[in-house]
Amino acid sequence: MKVAVLGAAGGIGQPLSMILKNQLPSGSSLALYDVAPFTPGVAKDLSHIPTDVTVEGYTGDDLQVALKDSDVVVIPAGVARKPGMTRDDLFAVNAGIVANLVKNCAKACPKACICIISNPVNSTVPIAAEVLKAEGVYDKHRLFGVTTLDLLRAETFIAAELGVSVEGMKVPVIGGHSGTTILPLISQVIGAQVIADDRIAELTTRIQNAGTEVVEAKAGAGSATLSMAAAGARFALKVVRGLLGEPGVVEYGYVEGDGKYTQFFSQGLVFGKNGWERLLDLGPLSAYEQKCLDDLIPVVNKNIETGVTFVQKWAAENK
Ligand code: LMR
Repeated sequence: MKVAVLGAAGGIGQPLSMILKNQLPSGSSLALYDVAPFTPGVAKDLSHIPTDVTVEGYTGDDLQVALKDSDVVVIPAGVARKPGMTRDDLFAVNAGIVANLVKNCAKACPKACICIISNPVNSTVPIAAEVLKAEGVYDKHRLFGVTTLDLLRAETFIAAELGVSVEGMKVPVIGGHSGTTILPLISQVIGAQVIADDRIAELTTRIQNAGTEVVEAKAGAGSATLSMAAAGARFALKVVRGLLGEPGVVEYGYVEGDGKYTQFFSQGLVFGKNGWERLLDLGPLSAYEQKCLDDLIPVVNKNIETGVTFVQKWAAENK
């Protein structure tokens, strides 16, 4: 497997690359690209860790070289929130960055599975889809928005609430990756039936606002980097396991699915040799979760529309 990380020298990119260096299957290669000129130095640094994964670092005009023949591309590139900002406030900068990087993927590795971390994910994934369509290489089974950090947070908070180990804790989180579009299905967690309704609502809000919790705690120095790196690596490693033919690998992710709720929607995915192969049904929802789902649909639809509209203009300016 060849895995490329775009934005590899940043706050998410560096720890993400380190986890991949340590956990990719033997014989894999890692290509790190960032506009930061010290990116080859990050690769050199990682290359001293004794695992059977080779690492190369690229910057400047070498994006196509970095991407060439990649099987998986992970994109954490872009700017992060400061206190008082929403993820949508990052759109103006990150939309163009993602569009440009994905256009390069279309040329250098048109069959790669692309995993997008750059916010606002609800819009950057539709942007990527439009760019890939324009390049004639779009395959909805190979494009993902990484929402895994919502699952990590839900697992952590619900395990603490129940006083149990996080080991084996599973909390489905569906919808999107911003504010009220993040919907943890706490009613489906084994043992969560003891949690009172008003507490479920509080926990849901905490999971939805957990990114902001980190942004505020970092007080202007950015958003979640280490937990996002753990989330991005968990997701990318599962994509890799699917590509390698391991059966039954499952993770939640934001993809263009069957359009039952919104065109792009985060739900359970079963991975395979060609990306995601099957969508998992949402399962039974409580009345509260159903109301949250109904409410998030117009928000995600608007985020998708913003992304699609952007690409129409961007494509005309970037022929
Ligand atoms: C997160 O969930 O922590 C990330 O999406 C970053 C952010 O801005 O919240």
